[in-house]
Amino acid sequence: MTPKISQFLAEKQPATPCLVVDVDAVEERYRALQAALPLARIYYAVKANPARPILDRLVSLGSSFDAASWEEIEMCLDAGARGEDISFGNTVKKVSAIRCAWEAGVRLFVFDSEEELDKIARHAPGSRVYCRLLVDNYGAEWPLSRKFGTTVESARELMLRARDLGLDPYGLSFHVGSQQIETDSYEMAISRVAALVSDLSAAGLDLRMVNLGGGFPIRYREDVPDIDTFGEAISVAMRKHFGNALPEMLVEPGRFIAGAAGVVSAEVVLVSKRGREDGPRWVYLDIGRFGGLAETEGEAIRYAIRTARDGEETGPVALAGPTCDGADILYERSPYALPLSLESGDRIELLNAGAYVSTYCSTRFNGFAPLAEHYI
Ligand SMILES: Cc1ncc(COP(=O)(O)O)c(C=O)c1O
Repeated sequence: MTPKISQFLAEKQPATPCLVVDVDAVEERYRALQAALPLARIYYAVKANPARPILDRLVSLGSSFDAASWEEIEMCLDAGARGEDISFGNTVKKVSAIRCAWEAGVRLFVFDSEEELDKIARHAPGSRVYCRLLVDNYGAEWPLSRKFGTTVESARELMLRARDLGLDPYGLSFHVGSQQIETDSYEMAISRVAALVSDLSAAGLDLRMVNLGGGFPIRYREDVPDIDTFGEAISVAMRKHFGNALPEMLVEPGRFIAGAAGVVSAEVVLVSKRGREDGPRWVYLDIGRFGGLAETEGEAIRYAIRTARDGEETGPVALAGPTCDGADILYERSPYALPLSLESGDRIELLNAGAYVSTYCSTRFNGFAPLAEHYI
């Protein structure tokens, strides 16, 4: 938690649940990534947190943007980004969205199938396109595999088809999975991309760009390699596989930029044994799976939790949200221990929760108001 967030929470005691994001920390993360990968252009993955103060700050820093929908593109444009600074990075796009994007000056589109490529050719003629490859998501705590990306063989055919359709076959992309803790995953993906680039070059098609996606991890409960380690691994892999003919590099960080800049402040609603002396205490919070903590699905993302009673004796707990839905359990199998003195009314904080929380929040499930947000 940054000193600015600590001070804000102590002085304002905002109503819970709420997300507090330190926008200066967003800038620090952006600069840290820039320093770790100076040759790469940063396209912030808007889906991680599209709040206007974050977009404003990133526009002022000269960032580009990876948008998943026309609505996200509009948010970037409203914040002052230009169409040419935006990549329409979703492989699944409505025709109306492609058209609006093209009219707004967006000229960079992804695809991973023939039908999507044909849609782009028809509704965004002449645009730069890049094909997303399917890569192993081993090492990712929030994998994105299976649903996106195509094989090397099909990507080869599609890139040649893109040229025939009058598009600009610009490059290739991959995503090694979100919260990726293995630096090797990038090397493996880069070697596949480089082999295809060289194959296509022999076929007369010179690609100019590699989009390395997102995936850069942040610290939740365990240490992760720092961003310089990822930067070094990627730079070494790019030199190894491309030699001196380095293509343009793009990265699409989401979690890394916004995640560590935010904290969720919540209230303990109930601490209960429910008649069982041997089981863990159940701690029910005023935020759960439907209040924005969607990435606790499968207990994949395990937030670090801070209480005002830290330092006192602890015991095991299961953690759950406040709704009447049985799926609204955050952690039952992951070992969490909280102070034995914890009681309803206590405030707690979920650390590094600035990404993939606010927009996952349901609007009124069980009557609960959407997560309040403070950008400071
Ligand atoms: C296409 C694309 N790019 C970038 C990202 C951001 O990934 P991360 O938050 O792991 O950096 C995502 C996440 O879902 C994505 O789908």
